[in-house]
Amino acid sequence: MIPEHVAIIMDGNGRWATKRGLPRSKGHLEGSKNLEKLIPYIFEKGVKVLSLYAFSTENFKRSEEEVDYLMNLFTKVLKKQFKTFQANNIKVVFSKREEGLPISLEKLIAKIENENVSNPDYILNICLNYSGSYEIVDTTKKLIKQVINKEINIDDINQDYFLKNLYQDLPAIDLLIRTSGEYRLSNFMLFSLAYSELYFTEVLFPDFSKKDFDEALEAYQKRDRRFGLVK
Ligand code: FPP
Repeated sequence: MIPEHVAIIMDGNGRWATKRGLPRSKGHLEGSKNLEKLIPYIFEKGVKVLSLYAFSTENFKRSEEEVDYLMNLFTKVLKKQFKTFQANNIKVVFSKREEGLPISLEKLIAKIENENVSNPDYILNICLNYSGSYEIVDTTKKLIKQVINKEINIDDINQDYFLKNLYQDLPAIDLLIRTSGEYRLSNFMLFSLAYSELYFTEVLFPDFSKKDFDEALEAYQKRDRRFGLVK
């Protein structure tokens, strides 16, 4: 079975650069070049939804130089790739807190949301200025408002409704991949990951190849997903 929703924590860009005596920015650049190759490959494999951890709310604590570099990189890559995404029927959505990104990037995001394909085959979910625990808090507030405004009854809130009301209405994650040998979730998509299979690899993200992705898929296919049931 091909997982419907795959999520990737793209980790290790900085170490990739440091190992080569290069500035961290070079690692992010290589990571983004790698990502541009991987996205079409992952959708060609039959994955319908791909979520990417691009920048956490905590990442704002990095140096101003690195944050600025990353914001410019996101802008450049999105501008460059958006036409290709449209041509391939990929809808681009963003899981993010309402405020905090540079205005120019917020404007680009609004433009993308406006010009997205209307009948997508694939969804690319980019988590930017993202925090999984805040997503749960923000969704809780949103649902409380719906109850106060009498749009729903309190008993309408269940797990499926909560999932649908996260920043984006996406299916639960089937497979999570984290590169670079770190064994943590780092506040990523906590609600959507409840029953996902976790795959960790030592490979640093700029080196994470199509073959490495195939290996992750093979590992997933060997897993026995029980969702709490006894077989
Ligand atoms: C984590 O590596 C990586 C990031 C914080 C940035 C990831 C961004 C990209 C791959 C570019 C993606 C572009 C788009 C448009 C989504 P790290 O810096 O934490 O690495 P380290 O742990 O080795 O220091």
